[in-house]
Amino acid sequence: MQPVTKASFGKTRDGTAVDRYTLTNGNGASVSFLSYGGIITEISVPDRLGRLGNVALGFKDLRDYETRNGPYFGALIGRYGNRIGGAKFSIDGKEYKLAANNGPNSLHGGNRGFDKVVWTVEAQGAGAKLSYVSKDGEEGYPGTLKVGVVYTWTDDNTLRIDYEATTDKTTVVNLTNHSYFNLAGGGAGSIEGHILTINADAFTPVDGGGIPTGEIAPVAGTPFDFRQAMPIGARIRSSHPQTVAGHGYDHNFVLDRGGAGLSFCARAYEPTSGRILTMSTTEPGVQFYSGNFLDATIVGAAGRQYRQGDGFCLETQHFPDSPNQPEFPSTLLKPGETFRSSTTHTFSTDA
Ligand code: GLA
Repeated sequence: MQPVTKASFGKTRDGTAVDRYTLTNGNGASVSFLSYGGIITEISVPDRLGRLGNVALGFKDLRDYETRNGPYFGALIGRYGNRIGGAKFSIDGKEYKLAANNGPNSLHGGNRGFDKVVWTVEAQGAGAKLSYVSKDGEEGYPGTLKVGVVYTWTDDNTLRIDYEATTDKTTVVNLTNHSYFNLAGGGAGSIEGHILTINADAFTPVDGGGIPTGEIAPVAGTPFDFRQAMPIGARIRSSHPQTVAGHGYDHNFVLDRGGAGLSFCARAYEPTSGRILTMSTTEPGVQFYSGNFLDATIVGAAGRQYRQGDGFCLETQHFPDSPNQPEFPSTLLKPGETFRSSTTHTFSTDA
């Protein structure tokens, strides 16, 4: 059992108490998160010389998380990670309308998604379990959805996230975590020098609003080919219509899965610090987002601005807009079924 410590992180604007929890492993490396939004505020891991540094982007204060977290730093995302086209979908011929909070589309669960609610937290094993009950009709989604998320932090510097959900009416669900990484340290500048591998032969091209066209396009011969390790910045300014549509990378990659269970998703290596992040997941996709909408209006926890491309996300998930795209793996959850999803993030170094 690893030590879990808890400290007050203030109160939300409506007066709800928020705590910050810190999980520290046997190496002194730690992960901190909030009961508000399940937001991971800090991941403190060694560089090649053993010096601890925070590799997650985030704010210092709760009020900033409440009022300025347009980027969704560190947050749990639900009920539906990424976009649902036209902010609507149908189940068994009945249409459900969602908040259009991203042009005509619904993004990351609507106006008050799982990133903006206070979760119940209890210590569990080498970590903690976060629970939330989303009411029938909340943000337009059908069914009472009971959600449990477990953050586990082990001595091999692995952060494991296990998601579970059940419903009392057929609904859709797609849960993820929206952490931004900069393995040189949050606020250290551009992530373009990180060398990235993504285990994907294909990606889902999008229209100008970030909605998949439905095509499953091979990455071969495009800036989306990360099957061999490549600096993020090497092709980010390419004239490829999809890097232009995404303002850089903001795309779902179709993972090359080796059967059921956890399978290799991605690896990022930062040569100056020597830090490496290796991820595995049970999910069929990962949204690789290169921090395109960070615009220097935000000063992060380290007291430095975040500019475009100063952090990247690897959001393990089902494909965007799946409720409207019958060819994509289904995101339907029925009463009596349990939604399960797991992702691991292992931090190591080249030393
Ligand atoms: C996801 C989306 C992006 C952006 C970020 C949050 O990665 O795909 O377009 O909305 O979340 O800023």
